[in-house]
Amino acid sequence: MGEGPLNSTRKQNAALSFDRAARLYDTAAGVQHAVGHRLAERIERLDLPVRPMVLEIGCGTGLFTRAALGRVEPSLWLATDISPAMVIHGRERFRFHERVLFACMDGEAPAAVPGFDLVCANLAVQWFDDLAGALERLVRLIRAGGWLAFTTLAAGTFAEWVDIHRRLGLVAGTPAYPDQAGLARQLPPGGWGNVTEEVLSHVYPDAHAFVAALKTIGAHTTDRPPLAPGAFRQVLRSFGVGRPVTVSYHIAYGLWRKQSNGER
Ligand SMILES: C[S@@+](CC[C@H](N)C(=O)[O-])C[C@H]1O[C@@H](n2cnc3c(N)ncnc32)[C@H](O)[C@@H]1O
Repeated sequence: MGEGPLNSTRKQNAALSFDRAARLYDTAAGVQHAVGHRLAERIERLDLPVRPMVLEIGCGTGLFTRAALGRVEPSLWLATDISPAMVIHGRERFRFHERVLFACMDGEAPAAVPGFDLVCANLAVQWFDDLAGALERLVRLIRAGGWLAFTTLAAGTFAEWVDIHRRLGLVAGTPAYPDQAGLARQLPPGGWGNVTEEVLSHVYPDAHAFVAALKTIGAHTTDRPPLAPGAFRQVLRSFGVGRPVTVSYHIAYGLWRKQSNGER
């Protein structure tokens, strides 16, 4: 594997949780699917060579991979994920696609040979322990003039859920996602890029459905200890049981280009 002290308990828990979720992931990944399509549209507009070599980080079951392959024809698309079960599902989905290969890899410790035209990731890097360090390592794998393109969650995500907790004197397990400017500061040196933001509002049938969707896709692990059952029931009731609830996703799009040879 690559470098770095990257085996935190949080990461191991998240990987286990995604592993368990792989079988049913697609049934509850509406937001990931929608965002994957938006990222694929942006990638299609990049100045990429014909038949680019692509490395994907955190591919999951291949939802974004499929969206992107509708728009980009690669010479090789190497789809990687930290969860072996996700890799197995993705590999199965693309078993007839000879230019798509799957491998298990921690995106924070990339073990691949440099030379990619594009490194991309849809809604995966919010799970990294050290985003700036990881991006620096990832862009070493990009050739001069190549691209990094990713989506992640920004501050404001799940604000409604966090707010209900606050009103009840509780603290939600939602991570403190960085804001757009904070994310832009984490883009690596050696190139130029920006981070833009878009808010997607997703309506769930009720609070139980929101929590169930996070669990089904494996995205429910948190650093905080769980609430006592009574307090959690109170949160659910206050958020909305038996009536639709709206949850905001602040989606950050990071696009970055490595400087070309000859540029300083
Ligand atoms: C919300 S899912 C997104 C999956 C897929 N990109 C999609 O659009 O459906 C996040 C994925 O990131 C993976 N992941 C989390 N941490 C990772 C890491 N350090 N390296 C590689 N993959 C990681 C998880 O296993 C999971 O499959």
